[in-house]
Amino acid sequence: MHDRELGRTGWRVSDVSFGAWAIGGAWGSVDDTESLAALHQAIDSGVNFIDTADVYGGGRSERLIAQLKRDRKEEILVATKAGRRLSPHTADGYNEQNLTAFIEDSLRNLSTDCLDLVQLHCPPTDVYYRPAVFDGLDRLMQAGKIRHYGVSVERVEEGLKAIEFPNVQTVQIIFNCFRHRPAELFFARARAKRVGILARVPLASGLLAGKLTRDSQFEKDDHRNFNRHGESFDQGETFSGVDYDVALAAVEEIRRYLPAGMSMAQLALRWILMFDAVTCAIPGGKRPRQVADNCAASDLPPLPPETMAAVDRIYGDKIRPLVHQRW
Ligand SMILES: NC(=O)c1ccc[n+]([C@@H]2O[C@H](COP(=O)([O-])OP(=O)(O)OC[C@H]3O[C@@H](n4cnc5c(N)ncnc54)[C@H](OP(=O)(O)O)[C@@H]3O)[C@@H](O)[C@H]2O)c1
Repeated sequence: MHDRELGRTGWRVSDVSFGAWAIGGAWGSVDDTESLAALHQAIDSGVNFIDTADVYGGGRSERLIAQLKRDRKEEILVATKAGRRLSPHTADGYNEQNLTAFIEDSLRNLSTDCLDLVQLHCPPTDVYYRPAVFDGLDRLMQAGKIRHYGVSVERVEEGLKAIEFPNVQTVQIIFNCFRHRPAELFFARARAKRVGILARVPLASGLLAGKLTRDSQFEKDDHRNFNRHGESFDQGETFSGVDYDVALAAVEEIRRYLPAGMSMAQLALRWILMFDAVTCAIPGGKRPRQVADNCAASDLPPLPPETMAAVDRIYGDKIRPLVHQRW
């Protein structure tokens, strides 16, 4: 497992890390024993960084990570998020009092007295125009409640605005074979400011792993069933916002350029790691076997130029018209 520098934090994190949404909920049934086995597999495979949120399963994901940390002696850095418990989810809700209360809950769930990294959880765009929000986060750092903070964004422009605040260490953004726009302008700016980039939804919710078909069924409480058109949260978070049938056809085209000895999930992760500005990909994994497959991508050779060119072409022909200007 290779590692990369995370912003200006002084930490180096595994370039394939662990996304802990699915072990909390919204991805169909979950079993804590299997989830813990998946987390242990990640650590066994060299992962030292986990992305979670207070809202994943109402703290379930954070509590499982606390259990993992009790069970393991390795240093494990945890990035959590705050803000999505607001109802209604408004910019005004992102005030110091609410954020402090959310952070206190995460401290309890994670059984710690200081959070490694807190990310604002895809707040309304207006939050990035309210310096008071970031002043409040600075005070939470001074109070010793959080070590560092960053943001998770829906749109490239939100990331560009967020990194104007000098203590934003990380930006989490959707970046994958079906979402190329972050690489255009944002990556260069983030790199110049030494801001870490967490590439989320790296497998387009499993599509890029190449195992889904037109007949795939998803459980009632799996967002791949209930959020396809953005009914519950941003449409881009489910299948990366790409039409399902179009995506299936594009995946089959990509498969033709799969280097020998690589799984489709590994191709998708290696594609992300070809971009130096990215700190890490954070694939979600509920099952140990998937986690092992994903982590092995770190040690695979770079993708050949013909595969990179094919992904570019397939994106340009099939996907770009549907998503490029939306996020
Ligand atoms: N707003 C935000 O800040 C936000 C939003 C979304 C995600 N995130 C973060 O980003 C992380 C990753 O995104 P994501 O979980 O939405 O999507 P993802 O990583 O693109 O897809 C994860 C899903 O793909 C399937 N999968 C994973 N590895 C596989 C493998 N090797 N082979 C076959 N299938 C595999 C699993 O589902 P099945 O086996 O059930 O098909 C898994 O739940 C999340 O866990 C979370 O930490 C943050």
